[in-house]
Amino acid sequence: MPRKLAAGNWKMNGDGASLAEIDALLAAHPAPGVDILICPPATLIERMARRIAGGPVAVGGQTCHTAASGAHTGDISAAMLAEAGASHVILGHSERRADHGESNETIRAQAEAAMAAGLHVILCVGETEAERDADVTLEVVGGQLAGSIPDGVTGATLTVAYEPVWAIGTGRVPEIAQIAQVHDAIRAALVDRFGPEGGAMSILYGGSVKPGNAAEIFAIANVDGALVGGASLKAADFSGIIAALEAA
Ligand code: PGA
Repeated sequence: MPRKLAAGNWKMNGDGASLAEIDALLAAHPAPGVDILICPPATLIERMARRIAGGPVAVGGQTCHTAASGAHTGDISAAMLAEAGASHVILGHSERRADHGESNETIRAQAEAAMAAGLHVILCVGETEAERDADVTLEVVGGQLAGSIPDGVTGATLTVAYEPVWAIGTGRVPEIAQIAQVHDAIRAALVDRFGPEGGAMSILYGGSVKPGNAAEIFAIANVDGALVGGASLKAADFSGIIAALEAA
């Protein structure tokens, strides 16, 4: 069975004072019934990891370089994330694909580097609004999965996050049937390529998940959790999403 995961992506938000949100989250969920991950900005990873060491919440990065080290000003390697205390890394987020021109090929190489450093990869896929309107969502997502997931991944090393680009940070969420269709297609593609391991990989939905809509999203087949942006910044909001996942 895929593990249930509530993952928070703080993006370029948060400072030292924001670490108090983690204390509040832990106080609300001392023994959570699902996996919880927070991916803060790189500057906070080590402090967050120290603060919650030994507890039930994992810490992750938001991207990593394809190389282990070298002349790549401003970049961060997977091993550096791991040394700072990260156990996971988000790769292929649409903001990285759009702002930094990351291709499927680059993301695949990042995923290989991340796994070599022992990090669990959360690999993001999703269509733009123009692609949804052109009715090519499944082709786009299928191409991203085929192009960016390395060979040899397992349920223990890879999680997929389906995030329609037009739903991220907009307050717009796809119809339940639209989410179900894409998650079913992702599951089928993973099983087709990886066999039983494809059935063990978690598939998260991301894009404007809030405490108020989480329960109906988590009731959909093949939705194993959420990748949450805005609503992960405040413990009170993220806690409501975690509770909905625990109840699903
Ligand atoms: P959002 O972001 O929850 O703010 O829509 C989701 C994401 O980008 O992972």
